[in-house]
Amino acid sequence: GMNTFVSNLLAKMTLEEKLGQLNLLTSDMDVTGPSIRASYKQDILAGRCGNIFNAYTPQYTRQLQELAMQTRLKIPLLFGFDVIHGHKTIFPIPLGEACSWDMALLEKSAHIAATEAAADGLHWTYSPMVDIARDPRWGRVSEGVGEDTWYGVQVAKAKVKGYQGTTLGANDAVLACVKHFALYGAVEAGRDYNTVDMSRRMMYQYYLPPYKAAVDAGVASVMTSFNEVDGIPATANKWLMTDLLRNEWGFKGFVVTDYTAINEMLNHGVGKNNYDVGGLALNAGVDMDMQGSVYISEGKKLLDDKKISLAQINTAVTRVLEAKYKLGLFSDPYKFSDSLRAQKEIMSTANLEAARNIAKHAIVLLKNEQQILPLKKSGTIAVVGPLADDQRDMIGSWSAAGDWHKAVSILDGIKAQAGNATVLYAKGANVLSDTVLIKKLNATGGNIVLDDRTPNALIAEAVATAQKADVVVLALGETCGMSGEAASRSNLDIPDNQRPLLEALLKTGKPLVLLLSNGHPLTLTWEDAHVPAILETWFLGTEAGHAIADVLFGAYNPSGKLTMSFPRVVGQIPVYYNHKNTGRPFNDANKYSSKYLDVANDPLYPFGYGLSYTKFDYSNLKVDAAQLVPGKSLNVSVTVTNSGNFDGEEVVQLYLRDLVGSVTRPVKELKGFRKLLLHKGESQTLHFTITPEDLKFYDKDMHWTSEPGDFTVFVGGNSRDVLSADFTLLEK
Ligand code: IFM
Repeated sequence: GMNTFVSNLLAKMTLEEKLGQLNLLTSDMDVTGPSIRASYKQDILAGRCGNIFNAYTPQYTRQLQELAMQTRLKIPLLFGFDVIHGHKTIFPIPLGEACSWDMALLEKSAHIAATEAAADGLHWTYSPMVDIARDPRWGRVSEGVGEDTWYGVQVAKAKVKGYQGTTLGANDAVLACVKHFALYGAVEAGRDYNTVDMSRRMMYQYYLPPYKAAVDAGVASVMTSFNEVDGIPATANKWLMTDLLRNEWGFKGFVVTDYTAINEMLNHGVGKNNYDVGGLALNAGVDMDMQGSVYISEGKKLLDDKKISLAQINTAVTRVLEAKYKLGLFSDPYKFSDSLRAQKEIMSTANLEAARNIAKHAIVLLKNEQQILPLKKSGTIAVVGPLADDQRDMIGSWSAAGDWHKAVSILDGIKAQAGNATVLYAKGANVLSDTVLIKKLNATGGNIVLDDRTPNALIAEAVATAQKADVVVLALGETCGMSGEAASRSNLDIPDNQRPLLEALLKTGKPLVLLLSNGHPLTLTWEDAHVPAILETWFLGTEAGHAIADVLFGAYNPSGKLTMSFPRVVGQIPVYYNHKNTGRPFNDANKYSSKYLDVANDPLYPFGYGLSYTKFDYSNLKVDAAQLVPGKSLNVSVTVTNSGNFDGEEVVQLYLRDLVGSVTRPVKELKGFRKLLLHKGESQTLHFTITPEDLKFYDKDMHWTSEPGDFTVFVGGNSRDVLSADFTLLEK
């Protein structure tokens, strides 16, 4: 309900002041697209702009807030920003961080981000992005947690809790914004901003649950997506924004558009001018207009023409004012603009330690033949590659306020822990040779510095360096601008020009460890076949180099597990673990089964995959009863043994399959996991509980229910290598 303070304030407001509260403009500190109005300061003073983004620091937000305090009603500004994986202390990109399978750490990084953002003048983060994505070509897979719905739900809850804490109004809590509502991760062919088309069933079963989980966790705001949903742009979609979000899910916060998403509906072709599309958005239930200035310019006419009602405007304004009220801005509009606090809390030692800790948990060991890893702190180590002596890329895309000059490079991280080993360095190759792409990336902050030497000269130096060493650590991959917004790729190989370097170094016969920096799952078929050891390090943030060295030298035994399948070739995409069985499932002996002539169906590295320096054996999978009685539960037990030579952590994963349903069911669905530490030689028996709740899905009538019948439960260290047992759900 509307609180009295807000309703009294609303009663005093003119129409223009109301529309001002629905208006969100970027400052000129930083922009993510073309700025439509640069006159935001006059707009604030005139009460025409109630919300600002891309403005931070205590000094700057105070200065802008002072303008708002000169307006008739002194309604404080709300300051939003893209705090995506950390504010100043940068954490791993979300796709990397997700590989930790550690909800406490995921919540903690969000909490630290909130603390630093709040200390830096901010009230509101445009995070978490919970878009499920099965297409690794999409640049924004780096900002999400990958392909799995159930896992996405767990992370959505942890992130909202981390940002918002237990009470908004606390010093270390900011408003979260779940995005991009809805289905943005399903853009056709992985091309950003492209069309989405899917069945209601697919939406409800696979794509909507993480947004709903964020709503259930009390997320304060929702951002509309750029794409259409069932033929109607999300930003004009009344079914989505009102029937589903408000009426079905009970969302009480406010909805903001993505950047100029209302205006862009002219391009979508659902209106012929801003007046039309502004009316569509307001009628759909979209409260705040990001950077489009449509509500402020068209609102009065829409109201005069009775295309929208005053009640609709009042509702939207109330939602925005309530958010400001909850933050405590009416009591103290400057409470987040405290310079002393900023100095103390931003990039504190504790925050950097937390960033290093979560970064090492994000690393995924993809291959480790002949136990090349961990490295010894003796002899000579050749550190080679275009990403080795690189700070810029380590913080990844969307590290908006992050200062890459503070990031630890791989080379510096290795040097800091090499002990008695001698560390040599050679660049070996430029990160890219495609001049058109380099130009594009540099135009948007890429900072790609090319070495003038020829590719052959660079390789010759690297080979000579490798020959002096006992082991080669080769850092290859993408630049951080090759993923993220507006950064989709049609080819997921390591950039071609880096391959000759890899081949030349392998020819030296020296043991070689390939370190990968990247924001998409890559196609690593060749590398997997030829390179003995591969570590996936994503973009790990401020402490990247230290975290990588922790893993290289064995101070931390890697435990990350992929949350998105790595395809063998781009032509397999989409390839994901929870696919349907089809009427002609893969059968090597049958030509007329579902397969390719030239490549296997399965990915190179499956969902849930990741190795350790030690070895985990699974045995004794048991279900304590053959039958599950409705209203009761089953106990699943499994024994996990660390049979290798190191202590280590393992993510034990539980999947289910419903063998017969009123609609087709996937071959496997993640329904639980446990991350545990096992000392070498240690065994532990784990117990999972299965209830009929875990067996629910949208049945043929779109009811969320479980159906009696046979099920298989699988447990293992990834979605492919599992033990299985059967049980039956009895009739009610
Ligand atoms: O928050 C982002 C969104 O994810 C993509 N478009 C721009 C917004 C604001 O910067």
